[in-house]
Formats: sequence, structure tokens, C-alpha cells
Amino acid sequence: GPLALWGGRFASGPAAALADLSRSTQFDWRLADDDITGSVAHAHVLHAAGLLSDDEVAGMVDALERLRADVASGAFAPTPDDEDVHTALERGLLERAGTDLGGKLRAGRSRNDQIATLVRMYLRRQSRVLSGLVLDVVDALVAQAEVAGDAPMPGRTHLQHAQPVLLAHHLLAHAWPLLRDVERWADWDARAARSPYGSGALAGSSLGLDPAAVAAELGFAGPVENSIDGTASRDVVAEFAFVAAMTGVDLSRLAEDVILWATKEFGFVRLHDAYSTGSSIMPQKKNPDVAELARGKAGRLVGDLTGLLTTLKGLPLAYNRDLQEDKEPVFDQVDQLTVLLPAFAGMVATLTFDTDRMAALAPQGFSLATDIAEWLVRQGVPFRVAHEVAGTCVRTCEDRGIELWDLSDDDLAAISAHLTPDVRAVLSVEGSLASRDAVGGTAPVRVREQLAAARERSARL
Ligand code: ARG
Repeated sequence: GPLALWGGRFASGPAAALADLSRSTQFDWRLADDDITGSVAHAHVLHAAGLLSDDEVAGMVDALERLRADVASGAFAPTPDDEDVHTALERGLLERAGTDLGGKLRAGRSRNDQIATLVRMYLRRQSRVLSGLVLDVVDALVAQAEVAGDAPMPGRTHLQHAQPVLLAHHLLAHAWPLLRDVERWADWDARAARSPYGSGALAGSSLGLDPAAVAAELGFAGPVENSIDGTASRDVVAEFAFVAAMTGVDLSRLAEDVILWATKEFGFVRLHDAYSTGSSIMPQKKNPDVAELARGKAGRLVGDLTGLLTTLKGLPLAYNRDLQEDKEPVFDQVDQLTVLLPAFAGMVATLTFDTDRMAALAPQGFSLATDIAEWLVRQGVPFRVAHEVAGTCVRTCEDRGIELWDLSDDDLAAISAHLTPDVRAVLSVEGSLASRDAVGGTAPVRVREQLAAARERSARL
């Protein structure tokens, strides 16, 4: 029957049903290489503590490196009798180093401190890969903003026409949250950079092993401050999961814009053939599947975070087996973002905007009414009155089925004595845009500065 790690105390092996329930190699095998790296570092501190001779540590490391190569080639793989990545690799080590030498490696460590360390190693590496993929989306947005130049579009609130904005301004409004997601992972990494190795099952090791040496060898800034915390906490995993979920939500909001903009009714954007799909029955169809899958996966990414937090809630200290459930949610997030982000970056990079149509629609829906009100304020009219006067302009136009700039000088004067023909200066999209020239505003001069700032931020991350 299966070779369990706790043979001494037990008269029988696990029931098949327990083994089926307990087994995690189907998802934790991706940690095998990190596990071996951790084992090599552990062999080094056993040697430093005098628990392995010079010959023994050399033989141990040699066996571990042969095991690493066999894992990489697929020559060594878990069997159904292996409970988890650690037990499978222990079997592989015993097969290569012999049971006398191989059996010495487990001293002073537990699968509890091992798994807590491996998850951090894996997620720290993945956070760097994913950050690079997110920055590819940012760079695609920045490049599109560059191409868009001073092209205007209808800015919306409540999905209703609000005020004209630059297309570049809107595109960059999607870039900044993604830049913050990358910064979140960088901030998170400082907290994730403590190694639980040496915490043992929960109480630390009695064998004179140096957790700081293992931490340094594994690329951590140092060991955890508390062995119970090191083995029992998963806030580091949950925080990673939050950033992954937030990234998904940020992509989803951009995806929704693309989906809307690609409709016949909006007609703002055309998707590249390589990043859209057809219909098996309707020959005319061109569907925004990349954006829809981003929107769909955002729900899944949030679900992964929610599931993980729910697993952690109410768990007593220290290690509980429930913690084995921490891995699949974040592994799923990594896998989903890994396939989503390149497709998403490609979709964004290949969008073509109908800037003529966007420019034509920018002033519609009375989106320059605020400009009338603010022009009046600059003439000394109180805003309350100015809002009223601009509102009357809109109502007059609506009644007659005309636009604000169609109002004659007499119409304007009849609405308010303050409305001289000079108001026409702001009754254009260009005038409206240029007037919003405070920092962060949509004036072309400010958006050009913003573009440079976004490009610089992305290059620095
Ligand atoms: N496979 C477990 C996990 O993923 C680690 C093993 C700890 N098991 C135990 N019985 N203490 O969390």
C-alpha cells in the first residue's frame, strides 16, 4: 500500500477514499522545482549545523539535482500513492540517494513550513511575470493614446453624454489603474519576502538550523518573525489574490468599453480580425470575444479571492489542513491571467478608432452646456444662476430640435442678458477641451504631459 510519512505510529495505510480526498499532486506539482530548491537550501543548513557531513551534503545535493532534472524531463512524476508534492519528491530523493542519506533531509522541517515557503516563492515569481504582461496592456493603451493625439470623443457619466474629452484622456484613464495594480504587486512583494522555512510544524526547530541562511538562499529578505504566523497565515496569498482580482476587474471595465464601442450603435472602434471572432451561422458577425472573456474571467478571479478568504475565515492557529485549499484559487488566477493578458494586449494594440464619428458625436447631447455655465461664471455670474441659464438654453434647443450652437444672438439674449455672442467661443469641442487645462484635465496640453508621465511610470516599473 501507499508509503505514508508517518508509518511508525500507524498500523494501516490510508483508506483509498482518504487518499483520494487528501491527494494534491494534481495541482501542487507545479511547485516541484521550488520544493527542490528549498530542499537544497535545507541540506545546506543541516550541513552548517553539523547534521550532514561534507560527503553527505554533496551526495544529497547531487541526488536532489538529479531529481530536479528528472522532474523537468518528466522521467519522475507523482504516482497516485503520493499524497502531495513533498511526499512525491521525498520518494524520488530516497530512490536516488538511498534511504540512509535521503532519510536525513526531513530533520528540522515540516511540510507546514515547506508549503508556506513554496507558495511565496511561486507567487513572487509569478507576480513579476504577470506585472510584465499587465505593463504590455498599459503600453498598448499608451501607444493608442499617442496615435489618438488631440482627437475628441463624447465623455460620459451614467453612460449619458456628459462633456467632450480627448480619446487619449479616456484611454489613459484605463492605463493608470493597471499601473497601480503593478505597483500593488511590487508593494506586496516586500511583505511576501519573508521565508517561513525553519518554522517547522509551528514552533520552530531545535536543531540549530539557521532560518536566515535558508531565507537568503531562497531569495527572501529574511525569515518570518514568528513560526506560528509563518505556518498558519495566508494573508500574503490573499493579498496576491486581491491584486489579481483587481487586475481582472480593471481589465473588465476596459473590456466593457470596447464591447460597447464596437456595437453598430456606438461605432467608435473596429476590432482587428486577429482579435475578434465570427459566428458559425451569421456571416456578418464580428464578435469581441477577447473583451467578453476578460469580463467573464474577472468574475472568476473575484470568485477565487472570495473562496480563499472564506477558507481562511475562522481557522484557528496554527496549521490546519484546510490550508491546502489556498493553492487552487491563486493557481487558477495565475493561469487565467497568463492566457488573458497577452490576448488583451493584442486586442488593445490593434483597435482602430473612428475618430471622425467620435468627433461628430462629441458635442451632441448638449455636452457643451457646462461650458456655457462656466463661461457665465467667468463673466461674474453666480453659478446657481449660470446653471439655470444654461439649462434654459438646453430646454429651448430640445423644444426646437436644434443644437446649442444653432441658437441665434437674439435667442441667447432672450434667455439671459448675460449671454452675449462671445459665448460662442466655448460652444465648440475644441474650445471646451482647451479650457479644461488644470492638472489632470482633458486639455490637449495636459493630456500630452499625462501621456509622457504614464510612459515614464510604465518604463520605471
Ligand atoms: N499538502 C499540504 C498543503 O498544501 C501540506 C502538507 C501539510 N500536511 C499536514 N498534514 N500537516 O497545505
